Amino acid sequence: MHNPFSLPLWPYPRWVAHRGAGTLAPENTLAALRVGAGYGYRMFECDVKISADGIPFLMHDTSLERSTNARALFGLDASAVGGDHSWGKLSLLDAGSWHSRTFAGEPLATLQAAAAFCKHNAYLLNIEIKPTPGAEFRTGVVVAEHAAHLWRGQTVLPLLSSFAPPALQAAMETAPAMPRALLLKKESTDWLRVARELGCCAIVCQHTLWSQDTVTQARNAGFRTMSYTVNDIQVARRLLELGLDSIITDRVDLFSPAQSL
Ligand code: G3P
Ligand code: MG
Repeated sequence: MHNPFSLPLWPYPRWVAHRGAGTLAPENTLAALRVGAGYGYRMFECDVKISADGIPFLMHDTSLERSTNARALFGLDASAVGGDHSWGKLSLLDAGSWHSRTFAGEPLATLQAAAAFCKHNAYLLNIEIKPTPGAEFRTGVVVAEHAAHLWRGQTVLPLLSSFAPPALQAAMETAPAMPRALLLKKESTDWLRVARELGCCAIVCQHTLWSQDTVTQARNAGFRTMSYTVNDIQVARRLLELGLDSIITDRVDLFSPAQSL
């Protein structure tokens, strides 16, 4: 199967730091990117959604509860859904205290701030489009628009990935030149067709889904292969033997991007 979105040269490194620095810093903050960079990582995965007024910001969960002090700051009656609030309000939150006192006061990060950090240091980003449920298409449009603008003129663009096909569809329609990847957490019979229709250059699978057979199928269809979230040496060795192009890990302290296993 010919894939017009194939990348003959893979511009991304083998190792990618999940949510910035895995669990060593508050996920999806600039502090996390700095910690990941301190361990030698040159590419970071981050989750991006949009505020009520359309500002892309880094956050994994739909709810603010786990990774911010929203309850304390906004009150018990306020919506816990991040996407319900303006960036003006979100920017007041402490997204670091929940992790440890070292990071107390760390704010949420906009995609714009993450772009500044990455561009000034020649780091790369895998932007996982993580929509608030119901906002899949709009999130894809806004994130792709902002990413295309923020990285205009750059040699290597961020990789936009998502579990949500409508978000990737929106990204393809909005900024077709931004590379895209389909995320998969379970087996699917039509994965190659879906990835192809969404103009993807890569497929990012939960690691148990990759086998010699699925890697060969993906490669023959013109897709690069990536895996998440790999925190175990034996698992990493298996994937490296299969020849995966990139591996996303929390264990920035265990896997050195500069050394083979
Ligand atoms: O992008 C790969 C990985 O981050 C997907 O899972 O839930 O950590 O966003 P999750
Ligand atoms: Mg993610």
